[in-house]
Amino acid sequence: MVKEPQGKLGILTPGMGAVASTFIAGVLAVNKGISAPIGSLSQMGRIRLGKRTENRNPLIKDFIPLAKLDEVVFGGWDIFEDNMYESASNAQVLDQRLLDQLKPELEAIKPMKAVFDKKYVKKLDGTWVKQGKNKMELAEALMDDIRRFKEENNCERLVMVWCGSTEVYTEASDVHSSIGKLEEGLRNNDPAIPPSMIYCYAAVKMGIPYANGAPNLSCDVPAIVELAKQTKTPIAGKDFKTGQTLMKTILAPGLKVRSLGIRGWFSTNILGNRDGEVLDDPDSFKTKEVSKLGVLEQILHPDENPELYKNLYHKVRINYYPPHGDNKEGWDNIDIFGWLGYGMQIKIDFLCRDSILAAPIVLDLALFLDLAGRSDLYGIQEWLSFYFKSPQAAEGLKPQHDIFVQNEKLLNTLRHLMGEDLITHLGMDYYYDEQ
Ligand SMILES: NC(=O)c1ccc[n+]([C@@H]2O[C@H](COP(=O)([O-])OP(=O)(O)OC[C@H]3O[C@@H](n4cnc5c(N)ncnc54)[C@H](O)[C@@H]3O)[C@@H](O)[C@H]2O)c1
Repeated sequence: MVKEPQGKLGILTPGMGAVASTFIAGVLAVNKGISAPIGSLSQMGRIRLGKRTENRNPLIKDFIPLAKLDEVVFGGWDIFEDNMYESASNAQVLDQRLLDQLKPELEAIKPMKAVFDKKYVKKLDGTWVKQGKNKMELAEALMDDIRRFKEENNCERLVMVWCGSTEVYTEASDVHSSIGKLEEGLRNNDPAIPPSMIYCYAAVKMGIPYANGAPNLSCDVPAIVELAKQTKTPIAGKDFKTGQTLMKTILAPGLKVRSLGIRGWFSTNILGNRDGEVLDDPDSFKTKEVSKLGVLEQILHPDENPELYKNLYHKVRINYYPPHGDNKEGWDNIDIFGWLGYGMQIKIDFLCRDSILAAPIVLDLALFLDLAGRSDLYGIQEWLSFYFKSPQAAEGLKPQHDIFVQNEKLLNTLRHLMGEDLITHLGMDYYYDEQ
C-alpha cells in the first residue's frame, strides 16, 4: 500500500524567513549529529501497535517508510535575496555559533525570485520579485522554477510548505469556486487571488503535495480542492499550531471533559519578529484572528452545552513589540467555574519561541505529505489537522481542534496505512457478568 521512498525528497518553502531558516538549519544540525529533532512527532514519537500486552511501541520513523533526513534537499522563494545563512542570522532564533558550524550548507541555499504583491502584505517591500503579464504567467514561471530545481537537485519527489507571510484577509468568492473560474481569474489578474494561492495552484497543478502554514486561504477553496482531486495531490492547512493555540487546544479539551464551565478566555501576545510586524497591519491581523478564534467553539460545543459555554467571551490580541524578537510571550486569562457555579481563574504566561515550535511542524508536514503521496492519498489530509490552528476539513464537516483526538486520528491513519489494527482504547480490562 505504501511505496518505499526512492532517491531524494525536495522540500520547497515559499517564504524563507524565520520559520523556514530555523527548520532548514535544524535538519542540517541533526544530520551532522549536533542536535536532536525535538518536537518532531515523526522523528521522536512512538506508536503503540496491537494489544497493550504485546509491548510493541516502535518509533514512528521505524514503523512507516518516511524519507530519511539525509535524503532531503531544500529550496524555496523569498522577496529578499538573502541566502539561508543570512536569513537565519537576521532572524536571530538560533545561536550564531550553531549557524557558523552549518555556514557552507546554509549559504548554498538561495531563494528563487518570489511572486509577490505589496497589496497583500502591506508591511513588506521586496526587491527579489518576478515580473509577469498576469497571474497565470507568474504561476507558469513558478512551475518552471520547480522543474529546474527538481532536475538540478536530482530529486525524485517534491513537497511544498508555505512559510511565507500572512496576507490580508480574503474571503472565498466566486473566482475560487471551480478550477475553470480560478484559471480564468489567474489570466485576468483577479484581485481575490493573492500570491500564496498562485504558489499553491502551481504546486497542486503539478501534483506536488502542498501544506499551508499561514492562515491565508491558499488551498482552502473549492477550486484547489477540485484540482487536488484531479491531479491526485494531497493538500493540508492552515496555519501552524504553535504557541498560544497549542496551549488552548491542550487545555480546553481537559476542562470540557471534566464539565467545568468557562466564562471568558482572553489571550494576548507580544512578539517582535517580522511576522509580528506583518501582523501589526490590521488586514493581516484579521486573517490571523479568524484562524485563532474558531478553536474554542469547536472543542466546547456551546450549542450542546449552553450552561457551561454559551456566554463564553473569547478575545485574541497580537501586539508587535520589537524587544521580544522571535521570543513571543503569550498570556491567557481564563475565567472558569465549577460546582454550583463558583468561579476560578487560570493564568498562563507562555514564554515561547515561535520558530522553535514551528520548525518541527514543517518537517513533519513535509514527511507525512510525501508519505501520503506515496500511499495514493489525495485531497484534504484531515489526519494532519494535528499541526494546524485552523484545520481544513471537507465541505460540510466541522474541523477537529482537540489535539488528543487529532493525535489519535494521525496515529490511526499510520496504523491503517501499514495494515495494523486501529486502536480505539475500548479493550476490556475489567470483569463483568455476561447476561
Ligand atoms: N512561527 C510560528 O509559530 C508560526 C505559527 C503559525 C503560523 N506562522 C506563519 O508562518 C509564516 C512564516 O512565519 P515567520 O515567522 O517565518 O515569518 P517571517 O516574516 O520571518 O518569514 C516570512 C517570509 O516570507 C517572505 N514572503 C512574504 N511574501 C512572500 C511571497 N509572496 N513569496 C515568497 N516569500 C514571501 C518574507 O519576505 C519573509 O522572509 C507566517 O505567515 C506566520 O504567520 C508562524
